[in-house]
Amino acid sequence: MSVTEEQRQEIVEKAIREISHIATLPEVTLRIIELVEDPTSTAQDLHAVISNDPALSSRILKVVNSSFYGLPGQIASINRAIVMLGLNAVKNIAIAASLAKLFRGGELTPTFSAKELWNHSNATAIGCKLISDTCGLGLGDEAYLAGLIHDIGIMVEMQYDRSKLIDALDKAGAGVDGIPKVSLLETENEVFGANHQEFGQGLCAKWKFPAPFASATGFHHNPLGAPAEQQKLVAVVHAADCLAGRLANGFRLDNPSCEIQREVRELLKLNDEQIEEMVGKLQVMVQDAENMI
Ligand SMILES: [Fe+2]
Ligand SMILES: [Fe+2]
Repeated sequence: MSVTEEQRQEIVEKAIREISHIATLPEVTLRIIELVEDPTSTAQDLHAVISNDPALSSRILKVVNSSFYGLPGQIASINRAIVMLGLNAVKNIAIAASLAKLFRGGELTPTFSAKELWNHSNATAIGCKLISDTCGLGLGDEAYLAGLIHDIGIMVEMQYDRSKLIDALDKAGAGVDGIPKVSLLETENEVFGANHQEFGQGLCAKWKFPAPFASATGFHHNPLGAPAEQQKLVAVVHAADCLAGRLANGFRLDNPSCEIQREVRELLKLNDEQIEEMVGKLQVMVQDAENMI
């Protein structure tokens, strides 16, 4: 269907309204996001919020102690984790840990389940940190969270209208190798009149996520369309999405070629050799993260 910009916006707003009873963030996550936005927040504030939620505390400690961070010795307390990793990193880990619950809904088609999307989101998040570290961008923690939520618009579609998402997935026509004949982006546009970038951006706005995260969700297939000050972060997410798609069983329904756009490679100053090396590293890091859970 051919829709105007205004109609697309209406479609996205309607979807977000209709799922608002499902797509609520846990109270603890909202409070952590408030802390992220508040420049006067301290380690004590964060500790107070997290320690109220024992399940979240233990998930955070698991992540902190994973090989991903490569810290010496075991970290047994949230306070210690904040000292070792910094306030921002722990805030982002806390948000990430509380997001897992949103990726529910089982298998929709033989080539798509919420669980697979969650695995892909994690692989992309790890890839974001890897790229940021490799390129010396210093965006690691922010990029990690951006990677984690980049495809959340697909969950919006799933909650909003399951049968339409199944229709879009069928039209994409992925074979057993997971490579679609047509990108899911196109079939979403055809079926919903909007795609997961726009649904995701709408959800981030509703959740009052900081603007860079909304852009990472809204422009990860077209990083140069993002506002200039956020292009680097969005470019990292785009590149990580491509690396994650190239892993064994990588998710590429919305990204059949997994080619990092030329402009993005230039922006991040990435060459072929670095890209190949990072795919190998990412495979190992993702495996480590899975073993941890
Ligand atoms: Fe996507
Ligand atoms: Fe993706």
